[in-house]
This record gives sequence, structure tokens and C-alpha cells, in this order.
Amino acid sequence: MTAPLRADPTTVKVALGARSYDIVIGRGVLASLGARIAALRPGATAAIVTDDNVARHHLAAAAAALADDGVATTRVIVPAGEGSKNFRSFEEVCEAIIAARIERGDIVVALGGGVIGDLAGFAASVMRRGVDYVQVPTTLLAQVDSSVGGKTAINSRYGKNLIGTFHQPILVVADTAVLDTLPPREFRAGYAEVAKYALLGDAAFFAWLEANWRAVFAGGAASGSFAREHAIAVCCRAKAAIVARDERETGERALLNLGHTFGHALEAACGFSDRLLHGEAIAAGMALAFAFSARQGLLPAAEAERAIRHLAAVGLPTRPRDIPGGLPPADRLMDLIAQDKKVRRGMLTFILVRGIGSAFVETGVDREAVRAFLDQKLAEQ
Ligand SMILES: NC(=O)c1ccc[n+]([C@@H]2O[C@H](COP(=O)([O-])OP(=O)(O)OC[C@H]3O[C@@H](n4cnc5c(N)ncnc54)[C@H](O)[C@@H]3O)[C@@H](O)[C@H]2O)c1
Ligand SMILES: [Zn+2]
Repeated sequence: MTAPLRADPTTVKVALGARSYDIVIGRGVLASLGARIAALRPGATAAIVTDDNVARHHLAAAAAALADDGVATTRVIVPAGEGSKNFRSFEEVCEAIIAARIERGDIVVALGGGVIGDLAGFAASVMRRGVDYVQVPTTLLAQVDSSVGGKTAINSRYGKNLIGTFHQPILVVADTAVLDTLPPREFRAGYAEVAKYALLGDAAFFAWLEANWRAVFAGGAASGSFAREHAIAVCCRAKAAIVARDERETGERALLNLGHTFGHALEAACGFSDRLLHGEAIAAGMALAFAFSARQGLLPAAEAERAIRHLAAVGLPTRPRDIPGGLPPADRLMDLIAQDKKVRRGMLTFILVRGIGSAFVETGVDREAVRAFLDQKLAEQ
């Protein structure tokens, strides 16, 4: 598998019958946003929902791309950060969209990372019993994961993403050039989800990432290659295929949660703060999932170490001691895991691996085995 040397956009189709849509990936594709929306919904007006960081860097370009093709726009700007996935911002976004006279047949444009995608997507799904929306993801995490698949949500005081819907976008426009303004730490955190697709189902892609990750980080303009675009397209193809087979997560879609049971517990232990970004928690969580799987005899220790070595090589945390501020004891982490997951007769469900690229859902993981494993990992500090 080599990185293509082409500059033209890649289109990945999400095949969901009448609700099928395209993911358009490439440097500069934001400029085509208006033409693409006008082609899909002639005469529609649009409300662009974004956050204040993204607005500073990319709102003018997005609005111009719409205006150029005659799409009238209103702008709705919320504060950057996970805190905006709450009822207050949701209300503000809904009222602003109504004030902008967005009706059925018009479009909500989610311009931002996963926070904006989830918030604007949720608002679109309930406004006037559902209006169409377009995802314009501006973080690596959003381009490879949250903008595809139609999960929308805000947070409850009882936990993350507890209030939401399934509402597929009608188009995803992933401009890889907008990632040039993303803080390096955010890019690296998003890369954990890129590695996730390789680790859960694509050993050849994993080998490609081991050889090409530097070019993915450098980006097209700087590196002269299209490794970044290629990596994003591979991830979107993987997610599109899984979503097409299991839109509502009754089975296979759960594999996308590789590293997320451990990872969510680590995020919660850090209070969902800047100490540990979501992707960083997922990197550490995937490292734990591989180490635990090896300990259960599911794959050779050397193969688990290879997976973990790559995550560490790009600068992602893989060990408890990589997480600043320290972690609570294993018992507390087990409480956090139990809050995230139902425990049935002492058994937990985890995504485990039989090798790099071979993840599976295991419903009978013994709670005590996980606790003992975490105890040992924490002692390796
Ligand atoms: N719906 C799904 O399927 C799904 C999947 C995974 C994650 N999520 C959700 O996604 C959210 C995390 O998404 P995220 O990591 O993209 O976080 P985010 O949206 O908060 O973005 C991270 C930070 O980067 C800034 N930013 C975004 N784009 C930028 C750019 N191009 N230049 C400069 N700064 C930019 C943002 O303002 C923010 O400060 C979580 O709420 C998570 O629950 C949803
Ligand atoms: Zn994730």
C-alpha cells in the first residue's frame, strides 16, 4: 500500500440506501462546499454552526465558499470546548437556527471538531422534526471518526453523550488543509483514532502507518506527499463499511470502541480535563487492551508490544506513568469502568484482540482479571 501522489479529492460513499452520502476528502475541498450543497439541495439556505476557535481560522472561508454559489448563510458561534455539548448551547443553537428561518429543505452546516459535529447534528436532528445537515470536520478526530456515521449527542450531568440521536449527514467535506491550524497536540490525539482503525481491522494499514506516520503528521503541502489524505480516506472507508453494515451498533460497530472502555475510565479519572485529551486516553486504552489480550493468551506479547511501540513512537501516552498527575488505584478505575459499562454477573464486555488488525467483542471478561491486570500496570509506574 503506497500513498497516492494525486491531488484530486477522494470520495468515499456511505451506503445507507436512501440516506447514502459522500465523504469528500482532499486539500482545498472546502472551496467546493457551496457548489456541492447547491447541487444536493438547490435553493437551500444554510446556518453554519461553529466554535470561536474554528470561527477565527476558517469561518470566513466556509461562508465565502457558500456565498460563491448563492447559498445564503447565518452564523451561530458557541464557545470552544466539550462544555458546549450541554443543554444551554443546544438551546442557543436551536433558537438561532429558528431565528435564521432554517426550514425543512434548508441545511445546517457543522463546521468544527467533534464537539460541533455532535451538537449541531443533534440540533439538526430535532429542529422541525429533522433538517438536513452537512459535516465540515476540522479536527483529525472529526475527519476520521465523529463526522461519519450519524451519531449526535450532548452530555448529561450523569455522563457523556447520554442525550442524542442517530441522524446521518447528507454530505461530509473533509478539507485536510484546515488541519494545518490544529494545535499539534490535538492532531496527535486524533491520530490515536487513525491507529485504531489499523489496530482493529487492517494489519496492512498498520504497517503502512509505521512507515509513513511522519508524512501523515507533516501534511501534504509540507511533505509533498498525500499520506495524510490517504490515511484519512482509509479510515473513512473503514468506518463507512462498518456503519453501512451496522448503523445502529447492534453488533460490529462496537469494534470502533477498541480502547474506549479503558480509555473512558482514564478520561473520567482525569475529570475530562486538559490533562488527558480523548485521543490520548484512547491511545493509553488501546495499549491496555493489547496488553490485557496478550496476558489472556490471545496474541503473542511481542505483537502487543509492536502495537504499543507505534503509539508511543508518535508521542501518545501508553503507560499509566505517561499520564500527568497520576491515576487513582485499580479499584477506583474499576468503579469508573462499571459506570461506563453494565456488569453482568461479574462479567464485562471489552473489545479484545487476537492480533494487530483482529479485534473482536468479548462479552465474558472477568471483572477480577481486569482489576488484577490494572493493579499490576499501575505498579509499573
Ligand atoms: N459522533 C461520534 O461518532 C463521535 C465519535 C468520536 C468522538 N465524538 C465526540 O467528539 C468530541 C471530540 O472531538 P474533537 O477532538 O474534534 O474536539 P473539539 O471539537 O473540542 O476540537 C478540539 C479543539 O480544537 C479546536 N479546533 C478545531 N478545529 C480546529 C482547527 N482546524 N484549527 C484550530 N483549532 C481547531 C476546537 O476549537 C477545540 O478547542 C467529543 O465530544 C466526543 O464525544 C463523537
Ligand atoms: Zn474515540
